[in-house]
Amino acid sequence: MAKKKVKKTKAKDKAKAKDKAKSGNKRTLKLIAKTPKVSTKPWGKDGKALDGVKILDFTHVQSGPTCTQLLAWFGADVIKVERPGVGDITRGQLMDVPNADSLYFTMLNHNKRSITLDSKSKEGMRVLERLVKSCDVLVENFAPGALDRMGLTWERIHSWNPRMIAASVKGFGPGAYEDCKVYENVAQCAGGSASTTGFLDGPPLVTGAQIGDSGTGLHLALGIVSALYQRNRTGRGQKVLCAMQDGVLNLCRVKLRDQQRLAHGPLKEYTQFGQNIPFGEATPRAGNDSGGGQPGVILKCKGWETDPNAYIYFITQAPVWEKICDLIGQPDWKTHPDYAKPPARLPRLTEIFGRIEQWTMTKTKFEVMNECNAFDIPVGPILSMKEIAEDPALRATGTVVEVDHPARGKYLSVGNPIKLSDSITEVERSPLLGEHTDEILTKVLKFTPREVAEIKASGATGQAPKAPAPQARAAE
Ligand code: COA
Repeated sequence: MAKKKVKKTKAKDKAKAKDKAKSGNKRTLKLIAKTPKVSTKPWGKDGKALDGVKILDFTHVQSGPTCTQLLAWFGADVIKVERPGVGDITRGQLMDVPNADSLYFTMLNHNKRSITLDSKSKEGMRVLERLVKSCDVLVENFAPGALDRMGLTWERIHSWNPRMIAASVKGFGPGAYEDCKVYENVAQCAGGSASTTGFLDGPPLVTGAQIGDSGTGLHLALGIVSALYQRNRTGRGQKVLCAMQDGVLNLCRVKLRDQQRLAHGPLKEYTQFGQNIPFGEATPRAGNDSGGGQPGVILKCKGWETDPNAYIYFITQAPVWEKICDLIGQPDWKTHPDYAKPPARLPRLTEIFGRIEQWTMTKTKFEVMNECNAFDIPVGPILSMKEIAEDPALRATGTVVEVDHPARGKYLSVGNPIKLSDSITEVERSPLLGEHTDEILTKVLKFTPREVAEIKASGATGQAPKAPAPQARAAE
């Protein structure tokens, strides 16, 4: 009897497994059936990667706008919601041309549309509700709690539009500092970058790269795209949070690596090891040492006396050491026991780089670049922003682009640094404040003319300026 029962259970299990396999197959088939046919259109001519994705862009300053600008470059329709009369605060920050949006704003808000809306007014919230209902993603980087105070809680957003992805940049994640307002350099300091940047005998330094703002915007964009991908399967949106501290720490990963290596002895590739300076408890500032464990420094090149950027980054990588010796005219170092192997060189790095610098100082940074790369020796010329702005190769790839703006004329910007072969970025100028208010109310949100009149009469949208004609600008 007992045996029979076991047999029966086994048969049931088998049947269940079969059913499961069948439904698995069905799912796979369903997925295959959903897969579109391979496009026959030429590369770059079959729309953009994020075509059809609508973004409610509630961002300001730098971190959030970096994120939504990237999404716009990949084809998303980005609707920037700004406060009437004021807009994103950066419109008026560091202004260089009178009555024209600052470069700060224009360089972070390409390819977007702008609607002005007082989100704290009744009519403003009416418009916001419709925006939430018709967009796929809401992106914001207000101070902690600001969105809730506005009435846009996650629960409300989710009940209005369960498919909506709500993405936020905040300074800190949950914890003691979660309520703090945070800017770039605060994040660089709290994320471990400043304590590990600078020279050993100097104070902590912030970097010129905006790793707190733009870096976090980049992280957030990846979170949004991943959430959109998951939504294809689950049908529902989710919250995406990227804290600036976390983003900076992620970029400082190698420094946390070194923190743990310290427990097992000194960090031998750091210059201070060769100088017999003891290590403390935390990852020290390493000057211009290379983060990859290969000794590296910045060396003078021809013209350094007058040109602040006549320098080159030089790495004594072990695999190319012999080529370096030949190039600088020190072939004996290839076999000399004090120089031939990396461990022998470590206590002599100051002398070694001194000798290499004697050679680099006889050449411009570009000559050093060409001569070294002919032997696969990696070096980094210190390029000024002027040199980068004028670089024809960067212009040709669209990494540096010239954009025309009705109020400021032509200006240079950084284009999309991420190149997709089937989704080509076209950089369009940033919108004027509220330039697309009417268009969005009527064409996107489908408010009737009466409703638009009501909304406008309430003052919720303020007054949208008209774009000046190009001729009018030329005459100014
Ligand atoms: N209509 C009505 N009110 C609006 C509005 C609109 N369209 N857009 C914004 N506001 C309101 C907000 O609701 C907020 O009101 P509240 O304080 O009553 O809640 C107010 O404007 C100010 O927003 P806030 O985000 O606090 O701006 P801030 O200038 O005081 O602070 C930051 C700026 C960047 C410090 C802060 O937003 C922040 O910490 N953001 C998160 C981290 C971040 O992204 N930092 C880097 C920026 S590059």
